[in-house]
Amino acid sequence: MRLRALVMAVALVISMPAVAAGLRDLAQAAGIRFGAAVDVEALNTDAAYAQLLAREFNLVTPENAMKFSVVHPERERYDFTQADALVAFAEAHAMQVNGHVLVWHQQLPDWLAQGQFSQDELKAILREHIQTLVTRYRGRVASWDVAAEAVAEDGQPRDTFWSRGIGPDYLALAFQWAHEADPQAHLRYNDYGGEGAGAKADGIYRLVAELRGQGVPIHGVGMQMHVSPDDAPRTQDLRVNLQRLAALGLATHISEMDVMLPVPASRTNLNKQAVLYRDTLKLCLAQPQCRSFSTWGTTDRYSWIPEFFPGKGAALLFGEDGRAKPAYESVRKVLRDAKTGTR
Ligand code: G3I
Repeated sequence: MRLRALVMAVALVISMPAVAAGLRDLAQAAGIRFGAAVDVEALNTDAAYAQLLAREFNLVTPENAMKFSVVHPERERYDFTQADALVAFAEAHAMQVNGHVLVWHQQLPDWLAQGQFSQDELKAILREHIQTLVTRYRGRVASWDVAAEAVAEDGQPRDTFWSRGIGPDYLALAFQWAHEADPQAHLRYNDYGGEGAGAKADGIYRLVAELRGQGVPIHGVGMQMHVSPDDAPRTQDLRVNLQRLAALGLATHISEMDVMLPVPASRTNLNKQAVLYRDTLKLCLAQPQCRSFSTWGTTDRYSWIPEFFPGKGAALLFGEDGRAKPAYESVRKVLRDAKTGTR
């Protein structure tokens, strides 16, 4: 009887349809994390969105849920509702969380942006903000975009609310405060437009090299990769940037990739998009210090692009209906072909 039962159990297991591995499983085997920016409202209201996110990604970045205006809407009030929901979802689905973003010049609440503060008052506000957020998620948020987009197009430090209010050392202070709050967290600088060769890439390199040289606890750099088929960095230039950042001892991350297309998207443009995703992922996999690859959004339906770039869209791996696009298939093939342990 026991043998019969065993044979039946084995037959049952063999007959079960294997659940196709998601990108997250293939990425893990290839040695990187595969991520997406998450719209928490969609997560809470769209079951198909949540299911796709859990199946395909093992790294999540809150698209807006941890931004200053959302978590700190009044000087004496924090609101972690959305952030808590995302962190809980990530923990329930064995996903890593990249906190985004502690110091940025956009999406600041009116009480802050329109307030009159001395340099010391503004330092105290930013320190309290950073340490409240990072302490709350200590051990639960593995990495933070401590600062974003602090370098201008000409490669010089961007003139922002923070640089004017605190002074040029606001970045070093922000990283230090985050590190004090969670010494285990991986701390990143995150920017766009520095993926190819040029003044901005050199400016980002100078900035993070200087921070490292000062002993500031900065551990990685996010290369956002918001691109289009007509405006994308040359592969060799992105390789050089990834390599020279790694030579500083920094990890690198493709942190916010999307490839915007004129909509409705043509088959030709969808194929060009697939090539860009493929080549960028290959570059990341070829760089031992490139730790993660994230798209800025999960499906085209919730992408930021159409609102900000009228007439453009279709920027992600999954369409409006959540179905895989050619870019998904190209990414899947790269990950499948990547040999385990050869990074
Ligand atoms: O939540 C409010 C809502 O209550 C209000 O009714 C509505 C009216 O305008 O605004 C809503 O907030 C919007 C928010 O997205 C959530 O949808 C903001 O106006 C809008 O500006 C914000 O846009 C975000 C943008 O950053 C600015 O924060 C985009 O979704 C987000 O994709 C984009 O992401 C940035 C990264 O953080 C940094 N790197 C570049 C990337 C693209 O710009």
